[in-house]
Amino acid sequence: MLRVLVTNVKGGCGKTTIATNLASAFAAGGFATGLAEVDRQRSSLSWLSLRGDRARPITPLDWRKDAGEVPDAIERLIIDAPANLKMRHVAELIQAADLVVVPVLASVFDEGSTARFLERLDELKPVRKGRKSIALVANRLRPRSKATQRLEAFLERLRQPIAARLGDRAIYGELAVSGLGIFDVDGQAVRAVREEWRPLLGIIDGLG
Ligand SMILES: Nc1ncnc2c1ncn2[C@@H]1O[C@H](COP(=O)(O)OP(=O)(O)O)[C@@H](O)[C@H]1O
Ligand SMILES: [Mg+2]
Repeated sequence: MLRVLVTNVKGGCGKTTIATNLASAFAAGGFATGLAEVDRQRSSLSWLSLRGDRARPITPLDWRKDAGEVPDAIERLIIDAPANLKMRHVAELIQAADLVVVPVLASVFDEGSTARFLERLDELKPVRKGRKSIALVANRLRPRSKATQRLEAFLERLRQPIAARLGDRAIYGELAVSGLGIFDVDGQAVRAVREEWRPLLGIIDGLG
């Protein structure tokens, strides 16, 4: 089983959007997919409850109290973490993951807190020793905007490569209403959006 944790101390940076769309991508790729909810606000579980029977199945896992058992059949697991988790809890979730995806928005507030979060992640032994990789995802980018340029410069100073650059796209919210992600639907417009996910999906496929 391949396990992907989506986390950042910052709220609203796109953790649930990325977690649910990764689930959509894995299910579309034919993997038996599980989506573990850690957030008390249960956004991922709500998304799954909106997902009709006609969509490819994704198994809900409720980890709000504790990280529970994962059915043997699951091939790919996504863990959607809440904002403001204690570092001790983040460390536990990292133990349960193969890859840590950290979304970051192009805003000074997000940059500062994400930089501190990345430093703290780096203090965790499995990350420091390179046993767990971190994939930074720049989210809600507006091409050629000043904010995007500043974020790129900021991440370059941190020497933190960007695993994927996702645009600010209304389609995520539109599909979420029906419990769907961009890999559940087809069409010309969505294909361009999917392209943005390719580098991140490539990293994940490379892990197993
Ligand atoms: N790439 C994106 N384009 C457009 N809207 C986005 C994008 N990523 C997130 N959002 C929106 O931003 C809000 C917060 O995203 P969410 O995934 O819930 O963040 P988190 O789980 O980190 O709190 C939601 O309304 C979501 O639809
Ligand atoms: Mg969330």
